[in-house]
Amino acid sequence: MATGIEIVPSVLPCDFGALGTDLERLEDAGVDKIQFDVMDGHFVPNLTFGSDIIAAARKYTSLPFEAHLMIFAPENTLQRYVEAGCDLIIVHAEATVHLHRTLTQIRDLGVRSAVALNPATPISAVEYVLDSCDMVLIMTVNPGFGGQAYIQEMEPKIVALKRLLSDRNLDIPIEVDGGISPKTVVGAVKAGATHLVSGSSIFSSPRGLKGAVAEIRELAEAATN
Ligand code: DX5
Repeated sequence: MATGIEIVPSVLPCDFGALGTDLERLEDAGVDKIQFDVMDGHFVPNLTFGSDIIAAARKYTSLPFEAHLMIFAPENTLQRYVEAGCDLIIVHAEATVHLHRTLTQIRDLGVRSAVALNPATPISAVEYVLDSCDMVLIMTVNPGFGGQAYIQEMEPKIVALKRLLSDRNLDIPIEVDGGISPKTVVGAVKAGATHLVSGSSIFSSPRGLKGAVAEIRELAEAATN
């Protein structure tokens, strides 16, 4: 039975001087899609990269790309991430004044839309835009940096979101991002998450990338039963 589990590496731990090589390694390791953590230094206290880096990375893998826009006013630059080769664009509910319009704009550009919620933001913030979403991302850290501790208090929020989606007959995935590792993935999946963003855990695993991806996938698949 398809469990819907997807392993989604964050590029934050990658060697940005050899990003293409790391993307080839990730594809070889069996990941399902790649998450690019775009940060503007204002919405989050860190600055990473923009659409040009994603465009440069596109030729190194055929895997789907998702842009996690941790930036204010993402509506101003959506087209650039589509042109860069992203199949899905994630915007933060806290970062755009007109969230419904922004999500609709993403779909009008021909790609899938998703909304992300910071740990303190209740799921009521997205209650009236779920029909405009192809995924919901529950942050399990405060965004801005990799290597942070998983916030277990987010699990009841995942459970509540899962119930809301079920009540609405919306079959869209819940993605979690932040501190996902072999120690935390089971709790997140049992709560209802299926798309699992991981950075530091898979890149630092003694098992190597392929072994780390397989380990998280095995634990996640088993937790869906
Ligand atoms: C937070 C980043 C991180 C990253 C995953 O802004 O979005 O959550 O993707 O990093 P790890 O897996 O190291 O927590």
